[in-house]
Amino acid sequence: MSYVEEGTITAEVLGRYENTPDPRLRRVLTSLVRHLHDFARDVELTGAEWESAIDFLVRTGQISDDKRNEMILVSDVLGLSMLTTMQNNRFPDGATPATISGPFHISDSPELPSGGDMRGGAPGQLCFMVGDVRDLDGGPVAGALLDVWQADENGLYESQVGAQDAYLRAIYRSDAQGKYCVRTVVPCHYSIPLDGPVGELVRATGISHDRPAHIHLAVAAPGYQTLITHLFREGAEFIDSDAVYGVREKLIVAFEEHPAGPTPAGDVAHEPYAVVRFDVVLLRETVGAARGRAEAVAAH
Ligand code: BEZ
Ligand code: FE
Repeated sequence: MSYVEEGTITAEVLGRYENTPDPRLRRVLTSLVRHLHDFARDVELTGAEWESAIDFLVRTGQISDDKRNEMILVSDVLGLSMLTTMQNNRFPDGATPATISGPFHISDSPELPSGGDMRGGAPGQLCFMVGDVRDLDGGPVAGALLDVWQADENGLYESQVGAQDAYLRAIYRSDAQGKYCVRTVVPCHYSIPLDGPVGELVRATGISHDRPAHIHLAVAAPGYQTLITHLFREGAEFIDSDAVYGVREKLIVAFEEHPAGPTPAGDVAHEPYAVVRFDVVLLRETVGAARGRAEAVAAH
């Protein structure tokens, strides 16, 4: 044991983690120690600030449960979630970009036929979201599953309104030509939850806490990489100041207004409605990833 000084403690700590057998864990932990120590030196961290940071993290954990993950929200507003998403989804030009998933996805949504109604009684203007699922060469991807979820016109998700049945969420399947059609409401902007530690951070810093209007999609098809993304409403409020940095230029699409009459689903609407066209371009699964998945399935 060597006794440490302010100038030697970093090397001493790094030395202990150098023996971590897993090389990836070793790399991550030694880098973390280096950056944490650099940070503490850079800001000349006080004891009171250290205590306040620990208290913030403890309360962030305490307010989290299976429906609310405040820890992820901290990562979101620090831009860490989106940075991680982008550096793990470096797609070629023609592919639809990925963005963060967010905390409001609910598994096992009901599967609806093309044009089926996922509103579940939610308030908002009728809206059809239509498009093609294609591969990078422009060929149709038939049988893709599109898991779609969004907030209502008040900016609230199913878990926030306490709905009994599926509320603004459903799974659709692309047809033989790769086409899909979703019946929903026009999305609205909303604030991220502010009643916890992230709210304190927002009030202390003045950072943006609003998300521009969007619809979430997770698109999966055999032989293709699953894509988690959103479409954003062109011209939406907060499009340039998304609280969680999720907006990407190619995900911004126009919503067109239509009078009452024939709809893209083949029926007739008795009220004016909006149509948004969003084509999804998926990437083929790489051979390595497909093999890894097959091995993982075989191992169970
Ligand atoms: C969402 O889009 O649902 C979301 C993402 C990050 C934080 C809060 C909400
Ligand atoms: Fe959302």
